Amino acid sequence: MSRYISQAVDRRRFLKKSIAAAGGAWATASMMELAMVPSTVLASPQPALTASISIDPARVRHTINPNIYGAFIEHVDRCVYGGVYQEGLPVSDDHGFRKDVMGAASQWGIPILRWPGGIFADTYHWEDGVGPQASRPSHRNLAWNEPESDRFGTDEFIEYCRKIGAEPYICVNLQHGKPQEAANWVEYCNGTADTQYANLRRKYGHQQPYGVRYWGLGNEPWQMPTEHYAKAAFEFGKLMKQVDPSIHLVACGMAGVPQPAMKKMGLDPEWNRVVLEKLTGIADYISTHEYEGNEDYYEELGTIQRFEANLKSLTAAIERAEVTSGKGSTTTGSSPVNNSKRIEIACDEWNIWYRKPGLPPSHGIEELVDEKYNLRDALWAASVLNLFQRMGDRVTMANVATMVNAIGTMYTNDQGMFRQTIYFPLKLYRHESGSLALNSELESPTFSTASFKNITYLDVSATLDDKHKRISIAVVNRHREQSIGTTLTIKDARILRRATVFEINGASPETENSFSEPENVNIVQKSISNAGNKFEYVFPAHSITLLKLSVA
Ligand code: AHR
Repeated sequence: MSRYISQAVDRRRFLKKSIAAAGGAWATASMMELAMVPSTVLASPQPALTASISIDPARVRHTINPNIYGAFIEHVDRCVYGGVYQEGLPVSDDHGFRKDVMGAASQWGIPILRWPGGIFADTYHWEDGVGPQASRPSHRNLAWNEPESDRFGTDEFIEYCRKIGAEPYICVNLQHGKPQEAANWVEYCNGTADTQYANLRRKYGHQQPYGVRYWGLGNEPWQMPTEHYAKAAFEFGKLMKQVDPSIHLVACGMAGVPQPAMKKMGLDPEWNRVVLEKLTGIADYISTHEYEGNEDYYEELGTIQRFEANLKSLTAAIERAEVTSGKGSTTTGSSPVNNSKRIEIACDEWNIWYRKPGLPPSHGIEELVDEKYNLRDALWAASVLNLFQRMGDRVTMANVATMVNAIGTMYTNDQGMFRQTIYFPLKLYRHESGSLALNSELESPTFSTASFKNITYLDVSATLDDKHKRISIAVVNRHREQSIGTTLTIKDARILRRATVFEINGASPETENSFSEPENVNIVQKSISNAGNKFEYVFPAHSITLLKLSVA
């Protein structure tokens, strides 16, 4: 799609235009604001690399579901207890919810929150976590081998979601629970009739149903024989939908593990096909989990290529299953099975996670605790969000893992918290992207690594906010050292010259935030006055930029 263009010619052309636009001096966005600063001061090194981005606002690809900017919390280490919930601290409210974390979650605008796991979900019995806290049982968190007090259960989760404005998404215990138990949970949450579990919710002080729409059919059950999982998920789903036909079910897909590795790990390469064939008609989503990371800067950023290939291969598997299962056939009566349903992708766990790779059963909790994110990881996260937006016709839900502490976007201690670098692209994209994905054409220089070839330094996603007539162009410059001078062309629309620029950057790709330096990486907002249908912009090295243009 993109190709390395002749730099010498292009650079000359680019420089000529840019120098003219800047009134004789090379100007970057921030410099354009400083109208009174003499042009000699404005002069800055000319970018050696150039690129072009062309956008046609008339070519809308699809609608973007805001649920792609979601998050996940799990009962592991200090994610729930210590991150979400910690009674008796000055930073917590009367119910025990941490106000600082809630504030940051609300500012991000988390649209959907997945809970209670993760692998925790598959040993969790929800009835342990409802009713008066003092009489809840406490048990061993068998997934992570730590104590579980049951202080944070369904009612607290729903309350938390309401406080931060997120839609709840609950994952049921499919591997060690029963379909009836899951159906009872749906009834507890959503039941409106005079029935046992709806009445239990009322007894505990919650008259109105919670209306939980999203339910997960287990978590990473890949050690189960595939047919066994597919059959169980169907039974769970059928019963749950009988209680509330309006719920949306997420079946477990398998992350894109290369086939030889799958065999070595005892995983079934046919997993997605079998699950999709059995569950098309009852499931609304198939999930995928993607954890990446590498000490090498370009290797880590290159993993986006694998991420994209995995999403494409899952999309292809869905399309095949839709054909095989006769998608388009009509639904009969009140059956919970509906073959005309379109299956979408929920990437309901994704993140960088390699510094302390902790996997059960040899895990130690400490392996999840100390993932400290740097600017490079934020560049990766922004590229993931670009990918989700570009593939938003199928990827309609995603949940970064996790929201806080254990591999989280925020980090707390008893006194306060700071937002890790990866928090900022999530907040930026959630607020500043449009809801319609636009087609964009990119020409950019590329990089290759030992594992990945021909990856463009620039990574782009363009969106349109039709109502407010704004075009957002999100661009990640993944070049470690060099800025890239770029010609942007917006076809067939009159673009105002004044535009807003949001930038996430830092002194180096290794820059982190911390308790003492919480704002090293942040979102900086500025404005430019040389935008238009065709204009030049310099994307700084290792940066995330979102240009917000107004259509006249
Ligand atoms: O979030 C940490 C763990 O990673 C989850 O429990 C599991 O689903 C994944 O492997």
